[in-house]
Amino acid sequence: MVRALGTLKPDGGFVALLEMVVARTSSVIGALRLAWSGPKAAPKVGKAGALGRHTPETGIVHLVGAGPGDPELLTVRALRLLQQADVVVYDRLIGPEILAHARTDAARFYVGKERGNHSRTQAEINALLAHHARAGRCVVRLKGGDPFVFGRGGEELDYLRARGVAVEVVPGITAATGCAAAVGIPLTHRDYALGVTFVTGHAKDGAPDLDWAALAKSRQTLVIYMGVASAGMIAGELTAHGMAPTTPVAVIENGTRPQQRLVTGSIARLGDLVTDEGIAGPAVIVIGDVVKGAQSAFDRAEQLDAAEAA
Ligand SMILES: C[S@@+](CC[C@H](N)C(=O)[O-])C[C@H]1O[C@@H](n2cnc3c(N)ncnc32)[C@H](O)[C@@H]1O
Repeated sequence: MVRALGTLKPDGGFVALLEMVVARTSSVIGALRLAWSGPKAAPKVGKAGALGRHTPETGIVHLVGAGPGDPELLTVRALRLLQQADVVVYDRLIGPEILAHARTDAARFYVGKERGNHSRTQAEINALLAHHARAGRCVVRLKGGDPFVFGRGGEELDYLRARGVAVEVVPGITAATGCAAAVGIPLTHRDYALGVTFVTGHAKDGAPDLDWAALAKSRQTLVIYMGVASAGMIAGELTAHGMAPTTPVAVIENGTRPQQRLVTGSIARLGDLVTDEGIAGPAVIVIGDVVKGAQSAFDRAEQLDAAEAA
């Protein structure tokens, strides 16, 4: 079944208390699981919440997650820092409504990366951040979603810390949780899933080298980032490794933004769904029975609305 449901907004607040740990995999692909194993020791946090030495005279870089697009989903801290920053360095998925919160006299640098079109190399971005912080400025490095979820925030953190530049990391709502909430898909509804795994559909050097057999049989919800271009291949690998072809999928494009679109169907048809529906914007693919649960709840609500209207 294919449904383009237009714009769906959450009707209530979304409070996510997620304890995430990066599950290191042998592949180049990072997989994030909602399974908790606490940190061994608390990191050294300075007065300003910074990792590293920071005084009013020295500059600092705040690696800030801006959430999936809706400016209302910025954290209070992200908003405050944006309002204070001398310099804002921002990515492709940061919309003008979010940038509008920056000071009018703040220096702004667009450093967005599109497939095959990077406005600046990662080395240049790193150097830009360090340069402005060393000049004593308050730098906000604004990244879509969460800076540590498929966002290269870790690389920027390593670079800056290795050079003694003070850094603070401000988490943001990642696309998986933001988009799922926006369309009413409870990623770990206990009737349907034992957990959730975030994977990327695009690796440094092309197709991701994932453990398809484990993913296909995991009884977890899968959320694929950057998977639109490889949707057909992903569906083929998962079904070839044992996932039922009828497994429900949802593609959420431009989640939480005014152009948000939700398309649902089965894994066997995922490649066609993406092509037929012309999915072109940023999108996450949600795979698993939680989609079916959300779909039936939505259908029931529609039937109730229709019955009330009749
Ligand atoms: C480079 S990754 C950055 C992810 C980001 N750091 C996060 O935590 O959400 C970009 C991918 O995130 C997903 N994404 C980001 N914003 C989205 C949105 N508003 N709707 C759907 N997918 C989104 C898409 O899969 C997109 O290709």
